[in-house]
Amino acid sequence: MSDKNTVETSEAEIAVHWKEEEYYYPSPGFIAQANLTDESVFDRFSLENFPDYYTEFAELLTWYKYWDEVLDTSDAPCWKWFRGGQLNASYNCIDRHLAKNRNKTAIHFVPELEDEPVHHMTYQELYVRVNEFAALLKETAGLKRGDRVTIHMPMSAELPITMLACARLGVIHSVVFGGFSSSACADRVVDSNSRVLITMDAYYRAGKLLNHKAVDDEACELAEKDGQKVDKMLVWQRYPGKMSSDAPLVEGRDVVVNDELKKYYGARVEPEKMLSEEPLFLMYTSGTTGKPKGAQHGTGGYLAYVTAMSKYIQDIHPEDVYWCMADIGWITGHSFIVYGPLALCASTVIYEGVPTYPDAGRSWRIAQDLGVNIFHTAPTAIRALRKVGPDEPAKYDFHFKHMTTVGEPIEPEVWKWYEKEVGKGKAVIVDTYWQTETGGFLCSTVPGLQPMKPGSAGPGVPGIHPIIFDEDGNEIIKGAGKAGNICIQNPWPGCFQTIWGNRQRFVDTYFGMYNKDPNSKDWRDWPYLTGDAAVMSEDGYVRVLGRIDDVINVSGHRLGTKEIESAALTVPEVAEAAVVPVNHEVKGKEPELYVSLKPGYEASPELVQKVADAITFEIGKIAKCRNVWIVPDMPKTRSGKIMRRVLGAISNKGDVGNVMTLANPEIVEEIQKMVG
Ligand code: PRX
Repeated sequence: MSDKNTVETSEAEIAVHWKEEEYYYPSPGFIAQANLTDESVFDRFSLENFPDYYTEFAELLTWYKYWDEVLDTSDAPCWKWFRGGQLNASYNCIDRHLAKNRNKTAIHFVPELEDEPVHHMTYQELYVRVNEFAALLKETAGLKRGDRVTIHMPMSAELPITMLACARLGVIHSVVFGGFSSSACADRVVDSNSRVLITMDAYYRAGKLLNHKAVDDEACELAEKDGQKVDKMLVWQRYPGKMSSDAPLVEGRDVVVNDELKKYYGARVEPEKMLSEEPLFLMYTSGTTGKPKGAQHGTGGYLAYVTAMSKYIQDIHPEDVYWCMADIGWITGHSFIVYGPLALCASTVIYEGVPTYPDAGRSWRIAQDLGVNIFHTAPTAIRALRKVGPDEPAKYDFHFKHMTTVGEPIEPEVWKWYEKEVGKGKAVIVDTYWQTETGGFLCSTVPGLQPMKPGSAGPGVPGIHPIIFDEDGNEIIKGAGKAGNICIQNPWPGCFQTIWGNRQRFVDTYFGMYNKDPNSKDWRDWPYLTGDAAVMSEDGYVRVLGRIDDVINVSGHRLGTKEIESAALTVPEVAEAAVVPVNHEVKGKEPELYVSLKPGYEASPELVQKVADAITFEIGKIAKCRNVWIVPDMPKTRSGKIMRRVLGAISNKGDVGNVMTLANPEIVEEIQKMVG
């Protein structure tokens, strides 16, 4: 990790952090129906019983062949879960439900235009469509087990169909968030060596029909320049039978899926019997370098883990209508819109657009009209919904029994609004702390067993044993009131297997800090470093304070400061770039960018715009910076390192501390005047 890999959170900072220690208890009604109410789970899932307790999770799935070994540590720390077992994720999410539930809704797709009907797709329809599309992937696109495919699609029913068709064939999918730019998509196509890109012609977002295919035409061009030719682009139509994008079809490369599917009506494709440890998908995420890393998730371990988390922490029952508001392009969507809920035969909601368009009541109308009873969202959405319509939820007739918050710390007062107004005082809330890499939850309360504490995620979920280390690897005991690096002592099945194509980066980043013997095959020697600072209180509840590395959490989306800086450096006039997180009322954090220019160039509004445009082009609108400041020079240490801490203090109007040891202390005041 970077030179910033230290716990900078001082005790003073923790003191100003919220100090609430209030408990909220689940209602007897909730407990009576909860999936997990047996307290002995914590004894069964103790470290002494590791790793065998995880067979309880694996038993939730249907296997063609049971495993030979629960945990194979021979290639530590690339753990192999349920080694030798065979299964198929698509079979587990679809086929096995057909005998009893073929007419049950698998997916409710809610289009943005409210006069367009909601599509209630049954498990039978999902089965038929996944099979037909799998046949197309196999025959038209020539894909086979182990190939990688990049999927750059908006929220639509066709996105899970595409993922599950890949899983059926053993093709490794790499879904790229629909809002990412052509350049970001191209990088992922190149890194995963995808020769097939799957897209959709257009989609609605906040009142506009966006031309999405044009973005992917550009992605193909960029990828080819970078050495990866896309020889097939499969284009789903937002309105079947009609192109909603004016981007021309490229002869020989582009295939209109809805036309091509006519060849495969009625086709059935046998699910591949995948080894448990074979990869299911890649999910690219930001790290400390400019290059996103492809987190590789396995089949058996991942699916067992997300199914168990959906059952015991999300408390999903087959009769529930479950709505997770995330985008499927992020890990939350993979685990908790697609794989977990469908493996449990629930009805999962997918919606197009944004929660606050056309008005502040949209989310609550969807919940009311579909009878949603489990609701999953992020603090950013909660803050936004509270801001635009604090009294809106009361106007609609919906009743949640269970709600989730995920992705960022939630302020206790926001938590309390969520509980009172959205949960109507009747829902339990789980604050789930986890990461792209972890596949599923690390910390959360078990909703039927443990009380909630606003602002705290909760203890490790059953089976996860968190520990807080100081810089030297000494444990900071619970209740000490000191922050440290939160690590997980044991491996778990949902954890990613490696970084695609870069095992060394995987080992160094996640295990380098506290591993004492790189040759050890004993899992006890490999605590997993999350990259977050946290405090553990007396009761074992974890309060996450934020990242210790160069990663910013904007609206619950993870961005690497280096990624944004690299984007700024593509502008020829820019000499240096530094990004700092600035506090934001709704988004939590927002990036702010400082750049200095090469000699001979002058700052101008046009240049500011050029830098801003480069960031949108390289990454996408989600990386938009609050301001781009062109400064005469960066504050630097005598050894030439940019002092981001000082810039961060300036942006957040905080104390810059003693700057006299800098090589150029006078610049600090100059920048302060500029920023105001
Ligand atoms: O800093 C933590 C924060 O989000 C990071 C992971 O981001 P990502 O990989 O995009 O996954 C987001 C969805 C799980 C973590 O390192 N984070 C996640 N959940 C919480 C959180 N911070 C505080 N509380 C949470 N519940």
